[in-house]
Amino acid sequence: MTTDINKKGFATRQIHASDVRIPGINPLATPIFATSTFVFDDCAQGAARFAGKEAGYIYSRMGNPNVNQVAAKVAALEGAEAGLALGSGMGAVATALLSLLEQGDHIVADSALYGATFTLMRDALPNFGIETTFVDASHIDNVIAAIKPETRMVYFETPANPNLKVTDIAEMVKRVREKDPLIIVVIDNTFATPYLQQPIALGVDVVIHSGTKYLNGHGDVISGFIASSDVIIDRCRNIGLKMVTGAVLGAFEAFLINRGLKTLDIRMEKHCKNAMQVAEWLEKHPKVRKVYYPGLKSFEGYEVAKKQMKLPGAIISFELEASKEVTEKFVNSLELITLAVSLGDAESLVEHPASMTHAGYTKADLEDAGISESLIRISVGLEDAEDIIADLEKHLAAV
Ligand SMILES: Cc1ncc(COP(=O)(O)O)c(C=O)c1O
Repeated sequence: MTTDINKKGFATRQIHASDVRIPGINPLATPIFATSTFVFDDCAQGAARFAGKEAGYIYSRMGNPNVNQVAAKVAALEGAEAGLALGSGMGAVATALLSLLEQGDHIVADSALYGATFTLMRDALPNFGIETTFVDASHIDNVIAAIKPETRMVYFETPANPNLKVTDIAEMVKRVREKDPLIIVVIDNTFATPYLQQPIALGVDVVIHSGTKYLNGHGDVISGFIASSDVIIDRCRNIGLKMVTGAVLGAFEAFLINRGLKTLDIRMEKHCKNAMQVAEWLEKHPKVRKVYYPGLKSFEGYEVAKKQMKLPGAIISFELEASKEVTEKFVNSLELITLAVSLGDAESLVEHPASMTHAGYTKADLEDAGISESLIRISVGLEDAEDIIADLEKHLAAV
């Protein structure tokens, strides 16, 4: 595609951004470049590529056609100048943080984060002299109050894993910039995807994804992405990925994500339609104490979600009017909704955050983050909504 792809609509970009054409063969789908290294014509060319004086591939840790293709596509969907693909979402988080921060720096982060992101900041980064203050970032005054002269980054997820807490992105950027324009604002956009939410357009500096989830969408790949400016992505590639984390994505995985991305919009539409039906049904059920879903008017983040998201997403958390044992029995009994961590797949999945994805949180951390120990998280899949509800109905009857 030769016309400016970035001016095209979302559906066109998710299919055509970063098309790769191979003269003489011209396959429609990009073949898998299963190669660790690339051949140089001569020493001068190898030296020029290492020196950055000549464009071209060197070694698949630094770049590979399939990996670069999918990274460019995610950047095009996020409206970012550049993108970087990594071997996992945590690879993306660690690569971004270890490329952009140094000893003595300070992060202000939301207290509700994916469990391993939280423990990276709480336990691992202090070993490198990087401290984090956790606050309820949905109340932006808390973030502003926690900023110190050493603060270099503000980090949050919206909707947040696992309690779906929503933070006003544009307001966060505005307030942080007013306080200190040099602070890097980072968002994990995994739950929303670029189809539902466009943080770069709202002023965010860096967008992170677990590509394992909706971007790939089929539960068969672990991957991560960073989307940002050319300068930040160069740093993340040439420092973080190349030398610090080495969290490289494989060509086959990149091929699969590129394939999955071609249907991101229609998958998200169906995921969200199903989720809305499930959330409304759960909210009316007498055995359900509370439902956390940005599409429900009763949810605290409803208005902000409506303002900044195209649709409210497809992750629902809820609590039952039941003991821990009964809640566990209910989760174990579900049949169609499968007991497994992860999210964003065609299959509906259920998990218990306090003992699984957020097991690294202590009791006090959970309380601090507003994550109930009895919370059940569902990733609403692409099955028929009636069948997902029937599974819940059958097993709630036994509660
Ligand atoms: C919001 C969020 N960010 C990051 C990650 C980490 O991604 P990965 O499991 O691909 O390393 C996850 C994983 O569940 C997540 O839910």
